[in-house]
Amino acid sequence: MIDQNEALLDQLEQIRTKAIAELEPVTTMAELEEWDIRYLGRNRGELKNIAAVMPKLTKDGRRAVGQKMNAVKSELESHLKARREEIRQKELLATLEKERIDVTMPGRHLPVGHMHPLTRTIQEVTDVFMKMGFQVVQGPEVETDYYNFQALNIPADHPSRDMQDTFWIVPGELLLRTQTSPMQIRVMKQTRPPVRAVVPGKVFRNEAIDATHEAQFHQIEGLLIDDQCTMATLKGCLQTFARELYGEGRQVRFRASYFPFTEPSAEMDISCGECNGKGCRVCKYTGWVELLGCGMVHPKVLREVGYDPKKYRGFAFGMGVERIALAKYGINEIRLFTSNDLRFLRQF
Ligand code: DAH
Repeated sequence: MIDQNEALLDQLEQIRTKAIAELEPVTTMAELEEWDIRYLGRNRGELKNIAAVMPKLTKDGRRAVGQKMNAVKSELESHLKARREEIRQKELLATLEKERIDVTMPGRHLPVGHMHPLTRTIQEVTDVFMKMGFQVVQGPEVETDYYNFQALNIPADHPSRDMQDTFWIVPGELLLRTQTSPMQIRVMKQTRPPVRAVVPGKVFRNEAIDATHEAQFHQIEGLLIDDQCTMATLKGCLQTFARELYGEGRQVRFRASYFPFTEPSAEMDISCGECNGKGCRVCKYTGWVELLGCGMVHPKVLREVGYDPKKYRGFAFGMGVERIALAKYGINEIRLFTSNDLRFLRQF
């Protein structure tokens, strides 16, 4: 028995020496892992093999061999821990060396986008009206015949309903709105006076396309209803708007016009910014540029939405966004807005 104990203690000492010797050349985590499994591994480690024969020893033998084994095990474990730390430090240094960042290197330029000129124009116009207490609302691009035409006092045989102008989805019933005016009806039906709203949005017309006409463009509609409103309110409000948008020096004028949903109706012109009213190509030598259509909301329209025309009045207006942007930026080709040509868009 003594001999067997001695032999086991001897074996443990050999394991210890061998393990320490084999740890010497280990330089990577993978090698260290192998070493760990070989000597300290729970299943096949060399120490484990000795632990397996322990139950057969005498009490004294178990104690002596057990003590030695624990001593060897903890010594090897502390070697393992120390080497693991060494390797980790070495690898970290290697990574830092390899991935070194040069903070003095010039940065890479990331191009910054900006707003489309039409979006900007819409925002500038609605901002002016928001300052005057108007709300900004939006509505559907697919409309019914009722909202786009009937409720706006546009009878069945009106030229603007012509197949040439309207993109019908279900002929006579459903269409792509040809104007933002149907939102007048929707807004009035949803609220009670006083009403103050502006509606920017896309509109569609089946038109021949050229430098100043597109089948899809944008309008901004406006509506004000209360119990005091007169034609003077309309003029004051729209004149203030024009001066806010274009600057104090500009003149406005109103010309009589016709729209089925307003009575009286007018068009508002602004003095030409290009020639200051003297006459040039931009204003076709008239000194004036057309800005918007407007008028007092027709009593028929008020009755249609359940407002009493004796009690409430209001005015409405509508303007083309492309036309404002063309004039503002001196562009002569409407199709550029939707051509997605960055050389064009980057100028704004
Ligand atoms: N909807 C008209 C158009 O597309 C523009 C317009 C004119 C709107 C007069 C209005 C208005 O609200 O009062 O030509």
